[in-house]
Amino acid sequence: MSLKNSFFFILGTVLILFSCNKNNKTEEIRIGFSQAMTNDDWRRSMNNAMKLQASLNPNIDLTIYDANYEVEKQIEQIEQLIADSLDIIIVSPIQSKPITSVVKKAMDAGIPVLVVDRKTENQTYTAYLGADNVEVGRNAAKQIIASNPKDSIRIVEITGLAGPSPAEERSLGFRQLIGNSDKAKMVDTIQGNWEVESIEEKFRLLLKSGAKIDYVFAHNDRMARGAWQVARDLDMENSIEFIGVDGLNTEGGGIELVKDGILKATILYPTGGDEAIKLAVKILENQSVPKNNILTTTIIDKFNVDIMQNQFDKINEQRTEIESQLVAIKRQQEQYYAQNNLLKITMGLAAIILSLAVYSIYSIFAIRKKNRQLELTTKKVTVQRNQIEKIAQEVKESNEAKLNFFTGLSHEFKTPLTLILSSIESIADTAKEKGYRLMNEVELIYNNSNRLLRLINQLLDFRRMEDRK
Ligand code: FRU
Repeated sequence: MSLKNSFFFILGTVLILFSCNKNNKTEEIRIGFSQAMTNDDWRRSMNNAMKLQASLNPNIDLTIYDANYEVEKQIEQIEQLIADSLDIIIVSPIQSKPITSVVKKAMDAGIPVLVVDRKTENQTYTAYLGADNVEVGRNAAKQIIASNPKDSIRIVEITGLAGPSPAEERSLGFRQLIGNSDKAKMVDTIQGNWEVESIEEKFRLLLKSGAKIDYVFAHNDRMARGAWQVARDLDMENSIEFIGVDGLNTEGGGIELVKDGILKATILYPTGGDEAIKLAVKILENQSVPKNNILTTTIIDKFNVDIMQNQFDKINEQRTEIESQLVAIKRQQEQYYAQNNLLKITMGLAAIILSLAVYSIYSIFAIRKKNRQLELTTKKVTVQRNQIEKIAQEVKESNEAKLNFFTGLSHEFKTPLTLILSSIESIADTAKEKGYRLMNEVELIYNNSNRLLRLINQLLDFRRMEDRK
């Protein structure tokens, strides 16, 4: 390979090396999550926990869609996730029944589905994740029965939206234990939809009707807090105990409500956001996972609320710490990419400089070689020129010799001819004086001698012309 080719080879190799994608990221995991709604803290903390867990794995691409309490919208979202061939779909159904068939459709399309919090109607999904809502209901009943010394406890149940499994199961578990208790008695059931506005008026009317109530079990803390507010507005909050579900450690969340004495207790209903992502990854890694993944639930009352809050605070601190570390990692990653790019550019430039240096060295050698060749040629030309000059000189000298010879010869011829001519002329003059006529032969000699003399003169003129040159 010539030096020039080596130059292009080095340059090419370097460019190929730098154009190579060094991104050895393993395969991307595309997770699509259709969230029932995002207007309450419980849903928001679920989403946040999911995002945080997902951000710990750089291969996960998580997209969260908000169905905004609209069943049709949620169906469309899942249809879209199927069309987009997501690796896995996570869904928290608004309603259990209407979402069942689209979840089956995803399963038929070969996309695993992880159902969280609210179940669909049959078991056609890959796995379910959530707390046991029957247990939640039972815990609420246990709390009411155990913490109330009265012989007779009059209870009102405020339910979540009719249709989603948590409302049905919470009622089921609650009524199982209440039904078995001698002292607990159901006074009324108010059909809510998880939000305060759905129960306020009904509960106000109930209180105003003079119904005697000792305990209110609401299917979530928001409705429990709303019911307490209604009682307080009627100055009845001290005669009624309230119990809710969720136990969020947020501002206005269940833990704070228990601490403030607004709620007698709250039943912890973990969102499972981080577990959902972990489970989704396990499913995609083909690890065996249980069909039902049950999150722990517990009663939070004045006896354990501080410990629980401490625990949650610690978890929150750790989350914040992880988040700030993730930010730092991201910043470092960006720095790394920037430096890496700079390094690549520097190395690229170094490679170009190296190539140019190699090429320059090559050029120096090539030029030297050419110079040597040129010198040789010049020498040859000089020798040839000298030879030519020598030959020319020789030719000149030989010409000179020839001319000298001819000139000498001409002079040699000229002298006797001149003598001959002057003799003939004197013969002619003598003959003229004596009145003789010259013989033709003498005239012939005279004329031809003249002619010879002219020729000799011409030869001598030629010599003179040559000398003048
Ligand atoms: C949040 C929520 C919670 C409740 C859960 C039941 O949107 O209403 O308060 O525990 O949904 O699915």
